[in-house]
Amino acid sequence: MLTLADYSPEEIDYLLELAEEIKTKHKNGEIVQPLKGKILGMIFEKSSTRTRVSFESGIYQLGGTGLFLSSKDIQLGRGEPISDTAKVLSGYLDGIMIRTFSQADVEELAENASIPVINGLTDDYHPCQVLADLQTIKEVKGSLKGKKIAYIGDGNNMANSLMIGAAKMGLDVAIAAPEGYQPSPAITEKAKGFAVGTEVLVTSDPVEAVKDADVIYTDVWASMGQESEQLEREKHFANFQVNDELFSYAKTDAIFMHCLPAHRGEEVSAEVIDGKQSVVFQQAENRLHAQKALMVALMG
Ligand code: CP
Ligand code: NVA
Repeated sequence: MLTLADYSPEEIDYLLELAEEIKTKHKNGEIVQPLKGKILGMIFEKSSTRTRVSFESGIYQLGGTGLFLSSKDIQLGRGEPISDTAKVLSGYLDGIMIRTFSQADVEELAENASIPVINGLTDDYHPCQVLADLQTIKEVKGSLKGKKIAYIGDGNNMANSLMIGAAKMGLDVAIAAPEGYQPSPAITEKAKGFAVGTEVLVTSDPVEAVKDADVIYTDVWASMGQESEQLEREKHFANFQVNDELFSYAKTDAIFMHCLPAHRGEEVSAEVIDGKQSVVFQQAENRLHAQKALMVALMG
């Protein structure tokens, strides 16, 4: 699972259905352990709360074990080639989850590994988050097809993965980002290529994007690795805050989503993220269920 672009709509549907089943059983206290004895290595080159804890809890709940591998502690951080790391870890583990900067590094890891590799976020993509997001939209709205997601803010890894996930699953998607911070034309074109009768729109007008939206989504203005650009970005993104005013242009029953962590008063106002239409904690919980489905499908 390097990006959702590699998965067919049927495969994504299958994962969402499995996630729902796994969630229901978990909520009913049923213990389901199809991954007994399996080991997931989790390489982190960036910080994480949700990804780390949901993968680690998820693999334990499925009967397996998770190994947290900080890139600072393993030899990868001292320059051991990714290809050697992939071959060595393939001899010990049943799957690798990696969070890092470069998508090319994840691809190189996958090419050289003989076990499944899961992208736990790169500068370009965050596919596991979007699986949980689609599960959440399905739960709250009843279905995916025909719904509209408006993403307001930085044209980053979240925007890229949302465009692809939405286009594949039959949702309209509109990205509003300032000039210079919009998703790359290559990724936008890729998403448009997956859309069958739905719209993929990139604009610099947040009001245009949220028109008729069922979901308003945002993410931080400065992602991990861009901390030094924070002040500069605050200037460019000042008109891109998701607040009550912007919400008033969407459908009245629109929901608010954010992958978290969030910065109240920057990309979202406190009244929106802490308000009645926010589903951010349901969304965060679904990381657990969606990734358990993914692990069962890939490692089971
Ligand atoms: N949404 C998300 O991936 O959160 P973490 O950075 O805490 O893993
Ligand atoms: N765009 C954010 C997402 C964090 C889950 C980042 O890459 O830091």
